[in-house]
Amino acid sequence: MSLKLGVNIDHIATLRQARRSTRPDPLDAAAVVLSAGANYVVVHLRKDQRHIQEKDVAALCKLFAKHIHVECSVDDFAQKAVLKYKPHSVCIVPELPGEVTTTGGLKFTPALQKKLAGVIKKLHQKHILVSLFVDPVATDLRIAAKLGADMVELCTRAYSEAKTPKQTKERLQELALSALLAQELGLEVHAGHGLNYRNVLAVADIGEFSCLNIGFSIVQRAIFTGLPSAVEEMKNLL
Ligand code: PXP
Repeated sequence: MSLKLGVNIDHIATLRQARRSTRPDPLDAAAVVLSAGANYVVVHLRKDQRHIQEKDVAALCKLFAKHIHVECSVDDFAQKAVLKYKPHSVCIVPELPGEVTTTGGLKFTPALQKKLAGVIKKLHQKHILVSLFVDPVATDLRIAAKLGADMVELCTRAYSEAKTPKQTKERLQELALSALLAQELGLEVHAGHGLNYRNVLAVADIGEFSCLNIGFSIVQRAIFTGLPSAVEEMKNLL
């Protein structure tokens, strides 16, 4: 099984919103990302729409529907949007007010499980695949399978923030065991959060993952790989 790549382009929209401009356009970013070999374009439609806006999801789904993976909460605003624009897949993530980025997997309270059961049913009725963002913990994987999710995305934040080789090894073992269990439970297994050019290979080597979702490190790298030619181009104009 070849490992797929989903590229999160939220921070292209972050740059656009810094100037309340129309550029850089996430639609252009999606075209570049897909032509460079990414399998999916990932966007997080937050309730506050601080980077990706509803109109971006509409345009992305219109042009690249089969390749669009939307992260969002169970909130009504986001659910209404994904049911309307029908991306290829949706990953349900927790969304906390004021958070800088997603901080971890879903916390499966009984109320959340009840809400998720309804949300998953509606998404399936529109033929949208459903992933749940979870911590690498056995009980959470069993709940995801019971709720009827198609996939789980294991949160790699703790692994990416591990401070010592021992911690890194332990977090990797958790990811590997959880990926195996998820597969045994019939779930497709993805992973993401904090993966970069240094730490990704150890995760990729865990054979059970079918897709890794990576954003910040790729957009960061793109600035410095693209900056020299952008400056040269301007200098040549002068
Ligand atoms: N997967 C999920 C569920 C996320 O919330 C994020 C961050 O938006 C990512 C993957 C990508 O994380 P990063 O930008 O750190 O690569």
